[in-house]
Amino acid sequence: MKILVTGGAGFVGSHLVDKLIEGKHELVIIDNLSTGKKEFINKSAKFYKIDIRDKKISKIFDKHNFDIVYHIAAQKSVPYSLKNPIEDANINILGALNLLDNCVKYKVNKIIFTSTGGAIYDSADVFPTNEDCEAKPLSPYAVSKFAIEKYLNFYQKVHGLNYVILRPANIYGPRQDPHGEAGVIAIFISNLLQNKQCYINGGDQSRDFVYVKDLVDALIMCQKTKNEIFNIGTANDLSITNLYEKIRKIANSNLTPEYKPPIKGEVIKSQLSSKKIKEQIYWTPKTSLNDGIVETINYFKNKVMN
Ligand SMILES: NC(=O)c1ccc[n+]([C@@H]2O[C@H](COP(=O)([O-])OP(=O)(O)OC[C@H]3O[C@@H](n4cnc5c(N)ncnc54)[C@H](O)[C@@H]3O)[C@@H](O)[C@H]2O)c1
Repeated sequence: MKILVTGGAGFVGSHLVDKLIEGKHELVIIDNLSTGKKEFINKSAKFYKIDIRDKKISKIFDKHNFDIVYHIAAQKSVPYSLKNPIEDANINILGALNLLDNCVKYKVNKIIFTSTGGAIYDSADVFPTNEDCEAKPLSPYAVSKFAIEKYLNFYQKVHGLNYVILRPANIYGPRQDPHGEAGVIAIFISNLLQNKQCYINGGDQSRDFVYVKDLVDALIMCQKTKNEIFNIGTANDLSITNLYEKIRKIANSNLTPEYKPPIKGEVIKSQLSSKKIKEQIYWTPKTSLNDGIVETINYFKNKVMN
């Protein structure tokens, strides 16, 4: 199949491209390298350095005739979106609409979209939270992701464009950027390995952590269904304070974290049920948090030493 992956130079997108290429698909990547890295780009993929908002992406659609489009590129930071809601909407809403218009124009069979499960269910009253629970996006980031879910519904009903929406919990693993404001596991690991101070905003807020390769499995397995929304989580959550302790012990560090006030606009508790995707397409998370943290530590150890 001919597959487009937007954000294919980023953390999730590059793992997805690597796995799809093992399946002998023809891969094209669109990425503006704003947070993505050239070194993550699989050499067997055709790479276009271009912004998803650029009208010239039409030429790429025209040339390659995609069967499936994975829309992974995004402004992915909740804290950034709280300070810059207009720029967040510009990338996450207008950029996505530019893609959706091209999907319709060039008759793409299906678009698979990474929404958010970690940020879309603010103040959920059911845990683990399932897809029937009302989405209550609070941060501009979650609002823009939810808006695209609604646009996908429109494009499906009116233009016949099939979609699958995944709502992942917090993703972690090798290649995650430890320098941004998102990606707490990568930030803690990278700091602890370099004996640098870690900061915790609040600490009692809890998150459900999914290993990146498990998410990639879900992204590929969901090709076989259409017009569905699936949560991607482990049904377990851990407070950020306890997460820090876990990583500190595995990394063999004695550093204590410094606490700062909680950030307004962040979800307090996130714990997602993946019962629906398990029942429909047999996906379950395979990697335990301990194993995933060890693999991530090994990755960052190699990076710090090289
Ligand atoms: N990391 C998580 O915990 C998590 C959780 C839930 C959902 N998601 C979603 O998964 C997706 C991937 O996240 P990630 O953690 O890999 O982020 P990332 O920042 O590593 O990857 C995003 C990629 O998109 C590219 N990009 C950003 N803006 C672009 C633009 N305007 N035009 C073209 N390319 C652009 C970046 O250069 C980067 O390569 C995002 O949609 C994010 O919202 C992430």
